[in-house]
Amino acid sequence: MYSVSKLADFSPAALDSAARELKSALEDEAAAVSGEGEWKALRDRWMARKNGILTQLNDQWLKAAPAPAKRDVGQRVNELKKLVEEHIDSASARISTSGTASRLEQERVDVTLPGTRRKIGIEHPLVRTMNEIIAVFKAMGYSVAEGPEVETDYYNFESLNFPPNHPARDTQDTLIISGQQGKPLRERLLLRTHTSPVQIRTMEKQPPPVRVVVPGRVHRADTADATHSPIFHQVEGLAVDSNITFCDLKGTLDQAAKAMFGSSVRTRFYPSFFPFTEPSADMQISCFKCGGSGRLDGAKCGMCKASGWIEILGSGMVDPNVYGFVGYDAKKYSGFAFGMGVERIAILKYGIDDIQLFYQGDVRFLEQFA
Ligand code: DAH
Repeated sequence: MYSVSKLADFSPAALDSAARELKSALEDEAAAVSGEGEWKALRDRWMARKNGILTQLNDQWLKAAPAPAKRDVGQRVNELKKLVEEHIDSASARISTSGTASRLEQERVDVTLPGTRRKIGIEHPLVRTMNEIIAVFKAMGYSVAEGPEVETDYYNFESLNFPPNHPARDTQDTLIISGQQGKPLRERLLLRTHTSPVQIRTMEKQPPPVRVVVPGRVHRADTADATHSPIFHQVEGLAVDSNITFCDLKGTLDQAAKAMFGSSVRTRFYPSFFPFTEPSADMQISCFKCGGSGRLDGAKCGMCKASGWIEILGSGMVDPNVYGFVGYDAKKYSGFAFGMGVERIAILKYGIDDIQLFYQGDVRFLEQFA
């Protein structure tokens, strides 16, 4: 690195050569500067009052010059001062314009690049199953209704013909909202255990004919495991009109089963009990895996546990007592109702072995339904 050396010879030739050495060092150092910090270091090295190169020129060249050479040396030192200032100024200008250029470069937009692709979401398998079930009934002229998840004892139980303290209430593992002992039982709030209360809410709002399906979330005091969830989903159905018979129930639900599980599926109805239907029946479908034989590839069919049949919903003819709660004339009208678990249907359709998969939000599970 350049440093000022003492001059032994003050002849013009010697001064020329010393000045040339200084100039070439100045040019090299100024050209090497590429940033603000480097530029400041350069400025200080050459121009600092205390011990900068220009100060040293004053001390070591000018002050040390013998009287006859003073004038010449003074002129040369002044020229060199100007030169140093010029180089330092132009280095500053250079780095500030190159800064602007690189900022522009960074901000450059290439409009020919493809845009950021966003993955399109899909329906959750439960929503999809629910929509498929609804579509089957819409095609048969049903409309869709919904109701609240926080329900009164009246809608969830009493109006559906579960009298207070009736043991049928015990089958529903109800989660109740605390601190309501002061209220009459029918006004107390609970988390609905089924979508059936929307049957009552629908009939209160309109006279027959009624054809409605009700998708929704329901709650039971169940511990979560591979086959249970305290929150799950149902689709309820209700048809009320004059002259509706059990044949209509069977025909409608048989048609729905074929639309959902394939046209070769057969149905059968098994006696059951629900307080709000009389008679009540569980519907079973012939196993769509083994075709109803109970055997698959020479072994027992796992889907139907070798029985050949799978239970998929509860149903029945609306109990005349229920009409009493909504002001329908039970002598004039009749109807049927049904309710199915959405998780159960999705599990059967897609061969899922753990109900918790529906709620964990694991993309590896969900993307299989894309
Ligand atoms: N609500 C019943 C349950 O959650 C299911 C059900 C059965 C609904 C029969 C109905 C029906 O509408 O007629 O277990």
